[in-house]
Order: sequence, then structure tokens, then C-alpha cells
Amino acid sequence: MAFPESFIQELKMRNSITEVVAPYVSLKRNGRNMVGLCPFHGEKTPSFNIYDENTDNAHFYCFGCGVGGDVISFVMRIENLDYVDAVKLLAQRAGMDLPETGYDDSMSRLRKRIFEANREAARFYYKSLYQPVGREGLNYLHGRMLTDRTIRHFGLGFADDDWSSLTKHLKSLGFSEHELVAANLAVQRRSGNGVFDRFTNRVMFPIIDLRGNVIAFGGRIMTDQKPKYLNTSDTPVFKKSENLFSLNNAKNAGTRTLLLCEGYMDVIAVSQAGFSNAVATLGTALTQEQAMLMKRYADEVIICYDADEAGQKATSRAIPILRGAGLPVRVLTIPNGKDPDEFIKSQGADGPEAFRAIIEKSGNDMDYRLQKLRGDYDLETSDGKVQYLEAASAVIATLDSAIEQDVYAAKLCREFGVDKNAFMTQLQKRSKRRSREAYRRQQQKLRKDLSGRGDRINIDKARVPRSSSAEEALVVYLIRNPDAAPFIAAQVKPEQFQNALMRRFYTYFSERVQSGADPMLNVTADFTPDEANILYQIIGKHASIAQTRQSLEEYIKVIREESVKLRQDEVSGMSGEDLNAYLEKLRKVKQ
Ligand code: UTP
Ligand code: MN
Repeated sequence: MAFPESFIQELKMRNSITEVVAPYVSLKRNGRNMVGLCPFHGEKTPSFNIYDENTDNAHFYCFGCGVGGDVISFVMRIENLDYVDAVKLLAQRAGMDLPETGYDDSMSRLRKRIFEANREAARFYYKSLYQPVGREGLNYLHGRMLTDRTIRHFGLGFADDDWSSLTKHLKSLGFSEHELVAANLAVQRRSGNGVFDRFTNRVMFPIIDLRGNVIAFGGRIMTDQKPKYLNTSDTPVFKKSENLFSLNNAKNAGTRTLLLCEGYMDVIAVSQAGFSNAVATLGTALTQEQAMLMKRYADEVIICYDADEAGQKATSRAIPILRGAGLPVRVLTIPNGKDPDEFIKSQGADGPEAFRAIIEKSGNDMDYRLQKLRGDYDLETSDGKVQYLEAASAVIATLDSAIEQDVYAAKLCREFGVDKNAFMTQLQKRSKRRSREAYRRQQQKLRKDLSGRGDRINIDKARVPRSSSAEEALVVYLIRNPDAAPFIAAQVKPEQFQNALMRRFYTYFSERVQSGADPMLNVTADFTPDEANILYQIIGKHASIAQTRQSLEEYIKVIREESVKLRQDEVSGMSGEDLNAYLEKLRKVKQ
């Protein structure tokens, strides 16, 4: 039990989901729901819904990305908090005192210890830099033209060559080996005996979240050895796909433009040159989560990736992700195949001015893509021109706005002297096909998620989907019709469910409604975020489907029939006699 249910009930009553969501999503009333643009995925038409009629089951659901939950899970997701901390935040918001005891906050405690250990580690690494042991590290950073002021601002540091200095230091401050391993500051020895430092002989870059917590580190080796950078693996406080380096600084830069760089050193060099609005991903390709995070602090992103081939590939991949999050994109072109750090350095004292100049010259993503595409065709020949225009129309068709499409089409037609009407007709065809395909893909993905196939949680995926939709429907029916619970319980035993998660939902809701508890009140505490999300998906899927007594009978029938069916592999291994007995049993259930 996390918190007493009476406390959660009051918490939900005092924190209206609409009011909690409002600062993040601009909402409009639409009949009985509120709707807005989903803050968890990029979209142009609102599919994020809030159902707030009944406080105990007030929830949100996005038909675009299939994310749903109650007010607590909304805060967990948007603020990147665990359950207990989200509850605490909502309690504070409503001016409620927390119950003294009776809730399990061990995860929350561990997260706090990890934050503390990371903060102490960052202090320790920073101090080492200015001691004899850190001489090599300081020389390295100075050699890369970083000033002491910059080093201090970013809290850079040094992990020395000894495999136990940080571990020893943190243990002396009272941290346990378990905590250090959980923070990924130390690694368990293979022999199982004791731990050793994760980072040695590297200059260290702390990664700091929006609340100022040190959540992870990157460490750069000072030679040509590999790996060049070592990063903290995912921990209870850190997911590299959902964080950005230096967003804590960039969000206070006083501008709604972000510079997206490839690496730590670029961000730092760019910042030292006076542009503190730079961020970087953490050694992986840009994700949709990171784009949505940027969207909260930016109205525009300038991609400042390396001029090399890898950087250009990464640029082409990042453009649709940023666009998808609703962010206009510009692309920086750095002369002479350099990265921002090298470019600024190569300009000496003029670095900041020179960098400002190329930022001002940066074109938008469409110009960039059309320009890139030219390189693939021989525009001296008619064939080459036709092929280029074909390819260019495919690129322009990816724009969602008809006005934007028109502008680029006109420009291109003028330049190549082709008839704009013909070009537009082709473009519109492509555009329609594209949005149809995108819609179909999204629906397919949603259906796949809903059926539980390809889902780690559903361990019984060998079973047929016929039973799984009946099982989902029965769970929803039970939640909607608590009065029917005794009847349903007499008809269907949990063992008759094929899908393990649906079986758990069924057992859980049967017990709750039969004991008179509100079915949905505590779902966020009693299931993992992924499990709870699947529950909101199946509820969302049935939102517009009326469930009659007759459909209930049908669900029960399907579940009972499917429960006696054996899997293909079981049947094929049977003796003739067993097979006959089995078929007989099947016949009986059907009757
Ligand atoms: P780069 O190789 O472009 O490094 O990788 P960089 O930022 O220019 O660094 P310097 O200038 O050589 O010191 C870009 C980013 O990719 C991640 C890091 O986040 C790095 O900043 N990366 C790179 C890793 O995580 N591991 C690696 O081994 C290499
Ligand atoms: Mn570099």
C-alpha cells in the first residue's frame, strides 16, 4: 500500500485534473471532455482528452499516442517524477499534510540518495581537478580553451586513475555500496565482492536536470583510446533518451530559440562564446521525448550538428522529429567540415562573432533538405532535372501546411521554369497519400499496443487475439458496471484468462468492486506505469462502445471457449485418444 486510499481520494478531489494539466496544455471544452494538443507527442489536431466528470476516475487519454492515466500519472510523466514524489507535489499544491507513515517510499528514498551521491561525486570530481592528482585533467580542459569560469559554471571535474577514490570518499560520507551501484557511480565486482569506481582517468561532465539535480555524468578520456566518452547508464533517476545536456542552463538563457548540438564539448564551447541556449543529446540519436521537452522551452530549434557525414545524417533524422513536435527548424552550416567547438576555436578572438554570423545565415530545414537533394542529381541534364523535381516534390509533400507547400513549390517552379499547376497537382496527390499512410501506421501501432502483442508485459502472446479482446472488454465492463461483479465472478474464473495482465486486472477489479471500493481510485499506485497505461488504453478503446448485457454474455462465452482450447503445439503432440477426449470437451463447452 502506497498511501491510504482516503488520502488519495482527498488528493484527487482537491487537485482537479483540468487545473493541474492547464499550465501544460491549452484546453478547450468539447462536450463532456476537455481537449488539447497532447504534451507527450507532437500533433497538429488535438487528440488529448480529459474526462473530469467523476473525481475518483478523472483521467486523461490521448487517442494519438495511447498515453493515459489519472492526475498523479500525468504529473509523474510530465515532471519526470516517481509515484511518491508526484503525490507529494500534488499534496503540496493543495496544501495537504502528508500522512506520517503507512506508505512505502523506498523508491523515492533511493532516488534521493542517488541525487545526493551524484551531487557529492560532482563536488569530488570538481575538487580533484584543482589538486595535484587532477593536473592532467585541468591541462586537458585548458588545452581545449576552456576558462576556469566555464569549468566552474558547468561543474566539470576529473576522475583520477585510482579505481576506488570516489567509492572510498562516498562511503566515508555514509553512502552504501548498493546506493553507489544504483547511481551507476560504482560497479559490482565480478567476484561479487565489493565495488569499484565506474569512471577513472576521465574529465567529467555532470548532467543536471531542470530542478538542479545532478542526474548523471559523461566522462571523456584524454587520449585517443575508446570509448571516447563513457556515460552513466540508465538509473532510477536518469534515462538518457529523455534528458538533454545543459537544458538547465539553456532554459534560463532568455530566448525561445535552442541550439541543438551533438556533444558536450560543443555545448560548452558555444556557451563560452556567449550562447548559453545550447543543448545536446547524450550520445544517442534525438528522440521524440527530447523534442517534446525542448518544445516546452523553445519556439524554434537550430540544429548545430557536425559538418561531417555522420552529423549530416543525424541532421536529416532530427528534422522530422523536431517538426513532429511542432518546432520550426533551422540548420546551421559550418564551413570547412568542422563542429561548432572547432569552428569557434579556429576563429580565435573572433569566434563569438563568427558563430553569430553563421547562426544568422542558417536557413530553414526545407531549404536545407532541398539543397542537400541537389547533390544527388545532375541538374545539367533534363533527365536529372525531372528526377530532382520528382524527389523535391516528395520532400515538399512532407510539409503539413498547404501554404508552406505552396511557397516552396512556387520557388522551385520559378527556378526550373516548370508549370506550377502541374507540379501542385502531383504534390497534392503525394501529400494525401502521405497523410493517409501516416494515419494508418499510427492506427496500426495503437491496435498493436492495445492487443498486447509485441508487448513485454503480455507473456502469453502465443494465445489468440479473439480471447484477448473479450478479456479486455470484460475488464472494462466490470469497471463500468460494479453491480454485475458477483454475476461475472460466478461465470468466469481468473484462470480462464489467457493474458496474464488482463487476468490480474480482472482479479484486482473483481475484488475491489465486490468490497465496495472505487475501482479506479488507486490504479496508479497498484500497477506499474506501463501496466496502468495499458489499462487506460483499453478503457479509451471502449470509450465510445456501448456495452450491453448481451455483449457481456458474448465476452463470457468467448473467454470460456478459448480457455479450454489448447495451443497448436500442445495439440500436435497429443495421442489420438487424448485428442478425441479434447474434442469432446470442446463440443460440450460450445453447447
Ligand atoms: P563526438 O565524437 O562528436 O565528440 O561525439 P565531441 O563532442 O566532438 O567531443 P570531442 O570534441 O571529440 O571531445 C558527440 C557526442 O556523442 C557522445 C557524446 O555525448 C559526445 O559529446 N559520444 C561520443 C558518446 O557518448 N560516446 C562516445 O564514445 C563518443
Ligand atoms: Mn568535437
